[in-house]
Amino acid sequence: IASDMKGLKSGKLRLAVITTAKYFTPRLLGMFCQEYPGIDVALIVTNRERVLERLSSNQDDLYILGQVPDAVDAVAEVFLDNPLVVLASADHPLSREKKISIERICDERFVMREPGSGTRMATERFFLEHGYKLKVRMELGSNEAIKQAIIGRLGIAVLSRHTLALDAPMGQLAILDVEGFPIERHWYFAYPSGKQLSIVTQTFLEYLRQASNYLDDLSCRQAISGHCPLLKSH
Ligand code: PGA
Repeated sequence: IASDMKGLKSGKLRLAVITTAKYFTPRLLGMFCQEYPGIDVALIVTNRERVLERLSSNQDDLYILGQVPDAVDAVAEVFLDNPLVVLASADHPLSREKKISIERICDERFVMREPGSGTRMATERFFLEHGYKLKVRMELGSNEAIKQAIIGRLGIAVLSRHTLALDAPMGQLAILDVEGFPIERHWYFAYPSGKQLSIVTQTFLEYLRQASNYLDDLSCRQAISGHCPLLKSH
């Protein structure tokens, strides 16, 4: 009977998610759509600032992003960790060092995400709080492009560890052991306060809450060697 009920649920789910969530959202959606074949999903992937704009103007059913600012009137719930790590090319001299100081890492040139990126915001805040300013070599609007720039030895970068999932260039990136890292960030799902959620959205929210129980946090070695089952079998 339960599966008949699932078959009866139909409609559209419009999601807008921050860039790093693209590394797991499609797989989550895949499993969700298998359970609820009547539900169609539209997914927009963009940076934090844009997701917040869409949230404020109520353009989608549900949003996935880092922390929602107090100024935005929204309901938000944490469902997963999003650790930010320092990435360098695997043959970078610092990749063999332990407990690298913040002062030392600030001698390096950084490749940064674009303004409006939550990753960038969290990175800048971290270094500012420790009294340092980064030397930015280059600004790039995509996590993928940044990974390629690191491999091309243009610099090092702070990115979500989840960017190492799936298509991580195998063996070419290293996570540096830097004091104060990883920066602890989280993924939230959010929607405007007072919004009447559709049955489809409520169904997906419930699914997300359950999925977060078995979404595995990525370990760097797993990701770098290319074996990184984000979803544990359950
Ligand atoms: P971004 O968001 O894609 O805008 O960098 C990531 C985050 O907010 O953690």
